[in-house]
Amino acid sequence: MPDAKGASSALVFFVNGRKVEDGNVDPEWTLLTYLRNKLRLSGTKLGCGEGGCGACTVMLSRYNHALDKVTHYSVNACLAPVASVHGLAVTTVEGIGSTKSGLHAVQERIAKAHGSQCGFCTPGIVMSMYTLLRNTRVPSMEQIEEYFTGNLCRCTGYRPILEGFRTFTLDAKVQGGCGRADCCKLKDKISGTNGAVNGIGGDPGNGESSAYEESSVTHLLYDKYDFKPYDPTQEIIFPPELKVDRELQTSYVEFHGPRVSFYRPSSLSQLLQLKSLHPTAKIIVGNTEVGVEVKFKNQVYPVLINPSNVSELNTVVEEDSGVVFGASVTLTTIEETLRAQLSKQEEYRTRIFSAILEMLRWFAGKQIRNAAAIGGNIMTGSPISDLNPLLMAAGATLTLCSKERGERQVVMDQSFFTGYRRNIVLPDEILLSVHIPYTTEGEYFFGYKQARRRDDDIAIVNAGMKVIFDHESAVVKKIDLAFGGMAPTTVMALSTMKKLVGRKWEPLLLEEATTSLLEDLPLSPSAPGGMIEYRRALTISFFLKFFLSVRGQLSKRLPGLVEPLTDMEERAVKLHEHTSPKSTQIFQKVPAGQSQIDPVGRPLPHTSAQKQASGEAVYVDDMPRFENELYAGLVLSTRAHAKIISIDESSALSLDGVERFFCARDMPNLDRNKIGCIIHDEEVFAYEKVTCVGQIIGLVAAKDQATAQRAAKLVKVQYEDIKPCIITVHDAIAEKSYYNSFTINKGDAETVLKGSANLLEGEIHLGGQEHFYLETNAHLAVPKGEDGELELFSSTQNPTETQKLVAKALGVPENRVVVRVKRMGGGFGGKETRTCSISVPLCVAAAAMNRPVRIMLDRDEDMVITGTRHPFFCRWKVAFSDDGVLSAVEMDLYANGGNSLDLTASVVHRAMFSMDNVYKCDNVRVTGYVCKTNLPSNTAFRGFGGPQGMFFAEDMIERIASFLNKDSCKVRERNMYVTGDKTHYNQLLERCTIRRCWDEVTVQADYSSRKASIDSFNKLNKYRKKGISLIPVKFGISFTALFLNQAGALVLVYTDGSVLLSHGGTEMGQGLHTKMIQVAARALQIPADKIYIAETATDKVPNTSPTAASASSDLNGMAVVNACDKIRQRLEPYIAQNPKGSWEDWVKAAYFDRVSLSATGFYRTPGISNFDFEKLEGRPFNYFSYGAAVTEVEIDCLTGDHSVLRTDIVMDVGESLNPAIDIGQIEGAFTQGLGLFTIEELCYSPEGVLLTRGPGAYKIPGFQDIPKEFNVSLLRGAPNPRAVFSSKAIGEPPLFLGASVFFSIRDAIKAARMDAGLSPTFRLDSPATAERIRMACPDFITEKIKPAEPGSFKPWSVTV
Ligand SMILES: Cc1cc2nc3c(=O)[nH]c(=O)nc-3n(C[C@H](O)[C@H](O)[C@H](O)COP(=O)(O)OP(=O)(O)OC[C@H]3O[C@@H](n4cnc5c(N)ncnc54)[C@H](O)[C@@H]3O)c2cc1C
Ligand code: FES
Ligand code: FES
Repeated sequence: MPDAKGASSALVFFVNGRKVEDGNVDPEWTLLTYLRNKLRLSGTKLGCGEGGCGACTVMLSRYNHALDKVTHYSVNACLAPVASVHGLAVTTVEGIGSTKSGLHAVQERIAKAHGSQCGFCTPGIVMSMYTLLRNTRVPSMEQIEEYFTGNLCRCTGYRPILEGFRTFTLDAKVQGGCGRADCCKLKDKISGTNGAVNGIGGDPGNGESSAYEESSVTHLLYDKYDFKPYDPTQEIIFPPELKVDRELQTSYVEFHGPRVSFYRPSSLSQLLQLKSLHPTAKIIVGNTEVGVEVKFKNQVYPVLINPSNVSELNTVVEEDSGVVFGASVTLTTIEETLRAQLSKQEEYRTRIFSAILEMLRWFAGKQIRNAAAIGGNIMTGSPISDLNPLLMAAGATLTLCSKERGERQVVMDQSFFTGYRRNIVLPDEILLSVHIPYTTEGEYFFGYKQARRRDDDIAIVNAGMKVIFDHESAVVKKIDLAFGGMAPTTVMALSTMKKLVGRKWEPLLLEEATTSLLEDLPLSPSAPGGMIEYRRALTISFFLKFFLSVRGQLSKRLPGLVEPLTDMEERAVKLHEHTSPKSTQIFQKVPAGQSQIDPVGRPLPHTSAQKQASGEAVYVDDMPRFENELYAGLVLSTRAHAKIISIDESSALSLDGVERFFCARDMPNLDRNKIGCIIHDEEVFAYEKVTCVGQIIGLVAAKDQATAQRAAKLVKVQYEDIKPCIITVHDAIAEKSYYNSFTINKGDAETVLKGSANLLEGEIHLGGQEHFYLETNAHLAVPKGEDGELELFSSTQNPTETQKLVAKALGVPENRVVVRVKRMGGGFGGKETRTCSISVPLCVAAAAMNRPVRIMLDRDEDMVITGTRHPFFCRWKVAFSDDGVLSAVEMDLYANGGNSLDLTASVVHRAMFSMDNVYKCDNVRVTGYVCKTNLPSNTAFRGFGGPQGMFFAEDMIERIASFLNKDSCKVRERNMYVTGDKTHYNQLLERCTIRRCWDEVTVQADYSSRKASIDSFNKLNKYRKKGISLIPVKFGISFTALFLNQAGALVLVYTDGSVLLSHGGTEMGQGLHTKMIQVAARALQIPADKIYIAETATDKVPNTSPTAASASSDLNGMAVVNACDKIRQRLEPYIAQNPKGSWEDWVKAAYFDRVSLSATGFYRTPGISNFDFEKLEGRPFNYFSYGAAVTEVEIDCLTGDHSVLRTDIVMDVGESLNPAIDIGQIEGAFTQGLGLFTIEELCYSPEGVLLTRGPGAYKIPGFQDIPKEFNVSLLRGAPNPRAVFSSKAIGEPPLFLGASVFFSIRDAIKAARMDAGLSPTFRLDSPATAERIRMACPDFITEKIKPAEPGSFKPWSVTV
């Protein structure tokens, strides 16, 4: 470096108040790697590594010497280079509290409010909230939601997190009740619901008790007065040394690692000199672009320059003509500056600023905005940058600067970007600042963005539009229209801009602009990103909105000259408004006489919640390293169907730190290489050929993760493609590529269909879904060195299956392999079988080297390897009466199973068993096809085919209702099952509560009057429509594979009275361990806190079934009761001898009397049997769970955007073991269902490559996607005699209620189509993405866009 000595500096920063000094830091490391691997602070989690999930959120604090002020901001530790925190203070979740030293109020409240299920997201959410509180003592709900824009949770459905943190806000008392059991607000609601439901009276014929008293219900899931008050004076102080030693934060530093050097200049001249010396250097501020490129695009940038101390790049200057932002000014500072401008300038001057502010609302998450700079956004030149279209349309001026030539200014116009991510800035130049102009009175400016998810998502198309009018006229003087997402760079619609000059702002101009824009912005049918027609339609939709908004503003300025907007038009251009979320949860209290120590039926928080909130909960990758441990990197297939010609690992082996490479050659024989969960049709390592992209070909064992992954990428595999390559269900149908097929045939559907007057046929596709558990696959294999013993710590839902397959691959008896599962950061079915494809090769490597080997997949690897929920295609035919009563149904279901059978046949069975949903029909023929394709094997996912089957039933009902012009609810009611009916597979329905759930939710949601007001709204609105739907669910409980319906438990009582409980189920966040402790506490009649569950392990309870099918509480609960009863019986004599004694007294007495204090328990579900498809005999399900939901949505017909306004759910969970956990499961499952049916879209290339590989491209619901009002009631007075303590299973059944969002969107689209004179019976595939919604509302815009002829081009992605 120029004027510095060139020697490496020592990195100095503070973590949780303690100083860290490192003279040997590797600048390639992120802050997250440093915290986890070097400082062993494992509370901060890795969920994605790309800034998209927030699991890694930490707080950075910086001292502003000029203002004598400390600023706190949340950032993603997975993107922040550790070198960038030199001189700063870092606070992690461990630093704010712990269960030992006392939890911080934020940690306590999220835990007690049931806001932590699997807990993997929890530390990140805690840190976002903590940072907010450090900045704002009493925040608003809007601020809370803003701070959470960068955090995802896959379990909770967000409601409990928001409600728990609402207690920090002023509006805590305004909505959703005050938190007290006797809250007057809730009382009204509860009595209103009950009164009405009592009026309906349930269905006495069903056999369930409908008698319950009003006082028996409550909404008190926790008492907020239990929370300790938040005391900001107790917060950890900012390290005084960082205040005193100005140099630390501001001085020049440089760090050199083996591959990368990092420089932090302290002046502009130093920066320019460095850039002149290293023209290819990357200037990093937030590192939010560069970090992602390095991690996921294998880029190496040897020189990084961080200009955070160069004042010229970090200042904001207000000038007469506008505001100048230094290029390193963060987006958060820009937001704050612009907001201040809005409050002090005249409205007309700040129109560009308003548009930028509105755009920043939807720009990334809070953590990214805190770190990322305006310069990074401009210089990256992404074609979907959100700021570039605005800056271009605004005519922003950029100041560039180099050492040799000094400063120059360029206007950001069409000539700035020269190609994909290229611009006119020269290699030795830097971007110094950006001037954003004020607007004048006759100048109007708007920005637009449409993304898959409104929050924290990159744009599909975005735009900045500016028009300047001639003085006091409506004649265009100048117009600038810039678009993102329509070309490899941000582009301006030049010829349209030219044509519109001199034209009056009137409908004719709109007409001409739309035609011209289409010519200006062509898009190849093969363009990356797909959605061609939609993207083209959006450009015009945006212009229409712009046209209307400008007309609205002009009409205020020139009242007589320009027509004001109608109410309908006003609504069309209205911006999205924040509404504070509302919710109620209602459940039955425990009976008055229930013992105080009996926890069953009480809302106990998750037993690990507090540890999860403090970061103390240990997940696999948090386990300390073994001394000689290695890390595994995987070599994955890049072809969908190909012969492996050769594998060359030589380059990988030559890398320093690489120990060994494993592939199929290393397996002693072909049989040991075979694995699979039902049949062994998979391979540990692909042998001879690959059958999907993402298949494991080899494994590199190396000293650490970075080396292993780098080496794995160096392994060269040569392929020769094999035909056919079957990617989609339609490919499979064409090739007749099926594993097998099954038929259920009841009555004579064929004949009835032939003779029916009313007959409808339909086809529909339902896409797959990525599990997106926050903790990716993580496994640690530890060979014991003796007799083939091996211990595997694994994030699996299926320890026994894992044990079996590991033993098989190692060639040892199963008794040498112990699989241990402490907890998982979510599973949802994705860790039921697919984990073995990673853990088995890992164990092979560990055993061969006799060394521990660890792996935690990166998010993109996990998504590519592990398969998804099955995409399904369905063809149906239905006959019905004029009243809509079903007389016959024929259905063909095709599931895309992928490259191995896995569980697909069982998934198809459940889809077939669920295709009736809650509707009776005597003539049914349903055939399910298990399609074999060249995708990664698709697998179990919460609902397991059930949601797919039910979805097709509801699609059929909707189309019948539209055809008959009837309310779909009436059609549903006409066909609904009652107790005593038999399903199409001849199972008798006992205690069927569907009608009670249905009636109760109808009243709770005030369905009829809301439907009427929605109809009125729709009459008055053309561009926005509302929709409402009422969707029921029936879900059969049991594994359909009979042998799996068994469970075991082990109870060990120690002489101090403490109890160690083990059972066969695993804890993945669903609260199973908590429920099992409650069950054991009741059975042993002791307080729950005497019972502990340490882990699930194959050496405690053998031969277990996977934790799946919602049946784990039922099965394991009964096994636990069985074991506890044995203990209790053995203690009876000692209780009788000393009735006033304590549990401890009896235990001790029994011990001294030489009585065994350990017992095993076992349970097999009675009364069920395998289903015989030929004879239609057998009882596949023990019982059914029921529920119903009403959802209301609003859609924007111009953009396809939607908002979920309200959802009400009534769910039958029998007598809840734990209402907080059950409500948590309902809300979490509903939210996953909402994602499945709306925004979660997997895209595959025609070659079978998954294109959506992380949170950036694949969108699960975020905090702002849940219903604005979310009310959940547990059906009261509905005990279930077929499961433990009268409870019912809950994990999967509510997921399908998320389809109520889909069907209300459908309802809204129907209204739009009817306005346009189109048929109300139409096909709408799932998910109802913004693209599908927009394109299902045809109008004059879509009419102008002609899709390319299928087959005439290669699409970017295909529907699989
Ligand atoms: C999860 C996530 C969500 C995102 N969401 C959005 C979104 O909604 N909308 C959107 O538009 N973008 C989004 N982005 C992209 C990114 O955050 C923005 O582009 C951001 O503004 C980049 O700023 P940075 O400081 O982090 O850039 P860095 O990664 O630090 O740098 C980016 C590039 O700019 C160059 N550079 C930076 N400063 C200068 C300078 N002064 N002179 C010359 N070159 C310079 C660097 O050399 C580098 O090539 C997202 C990114 C992530 C990870
Ligand atoms: S791990 Fe950092 S945002 Fe996901
Ligand atoms: S609790 Fe949030 S991801 Fe599991």
